[in-house]
Amino acid sequence: METESKPRSLINEEAYTGRAPSKKPVYSQGGQAAYFSCWDIHAYYGESYIVQGVSFDIREGEIVALLGRNGAGKTSTLRAIARVDDPALKHGEIWLDHKPLHEMRAHQAAQIGIGLVPEDRRIIQGLTVEENLKLAQIAPPIGWSIERIYELFPRLGERRMQEGTTLSGGEQQMLAIGRTLARDVKLLLLDEPYEGLAPVIVQEIERTLEQIKNLGMTTIIVEQNAIAALHLADRAIILDMGQVVFDGKAQEVLDNADLRQQYLAI
Ligand SMILES: Nc1ncnc2c1ncn2[C@@H]1O[C@H](COP(=O)(O)OP(=O)(O)OP(=O)(O)O)[C@@H](O)[C@H]1O
Ligand SMILES: [Mg+2]
Repeated sequence: METESKPRSLINEEAYTGRAPSKKPVYSQGGQAAYFSCWDIHAYYGESYIVQGVSFDIREGEIVALLGRNGAGKTSTLRAIARVDDPALKHGEIWLDHKPLHEMRAHQAAQIGIGLVPEDRRIIQGLTVEENLKLAQIAPPIGWSIERIYELFPRLGERRMQEGTTLSGGEQQMLAIGRTLARDVKLLLLDEPYEGLAPVIVQEIERTLEQIKNLGMTTIIVEQNAIAALHLADRAIILDMGQVVFDGKAQEVLDNADLRQQYLAI
């Protein structure tokens, strides 16, 4: 086959250059640059082409639910935005508050305000709740004070001397969110914050996220519990096979059973 003689990376190049990119969103809001914008991003795990030309904008203070079936590319999109090494971003632009994330590494992205709360929470073993929070503030830019985090999550305050890894799943999620707020966050990326939690704990974290929303924190929430995420969010973006198939009001998805059935199976 002709393609077999070409280097694999070149085949991948062709995979995205062959597609007409969508309109560059950074200019799409009345000529003003969006607060956050990703434009035609393509990302790979090795040879696996996963994020296939994703574009969207987010206004400051907006909450976006990023939805889609298992394997649709939600986590990969968040990771590409946070500029972690895998998946590798090979094409496209990502902007936060006029700063080019696509040119940065993960630590630089964190410094300018990307706050990724990963699915596995990554609580540091051997450290108490408070030490986990203090560690997040070891270098500037510092965000919320530890006392303010305890006001948001009183359970964390009550357990401040307890080792973080011995917390319940819900409490560990609170610690993971609190630890991110301890840094100066401009875009909060939540990957399945309700995963594996009992309904009563989900409700507790939902109330906290409502409070964070009311403070105007720009947020992307990825959730299998799409209904809960849609109630929290202003807007919804649905991914399917690494591409955006819907971008509109969260309420539209709640109202559109066909859309939910087709892409979310709910
Ligand atoms: N490290 C990796 N190496 C290779 N392929 C990967 C890697 N991580 C994820 N993938 C693949 O990328 C695709 C998208 O995965 P991703 O985790 O982004 O999906 P997701 O939408 O977050 O799914 P879920 O709802 O199950 O969390 C999947 O086909 C997955 O197998
Ligand atoms: Mg995922």
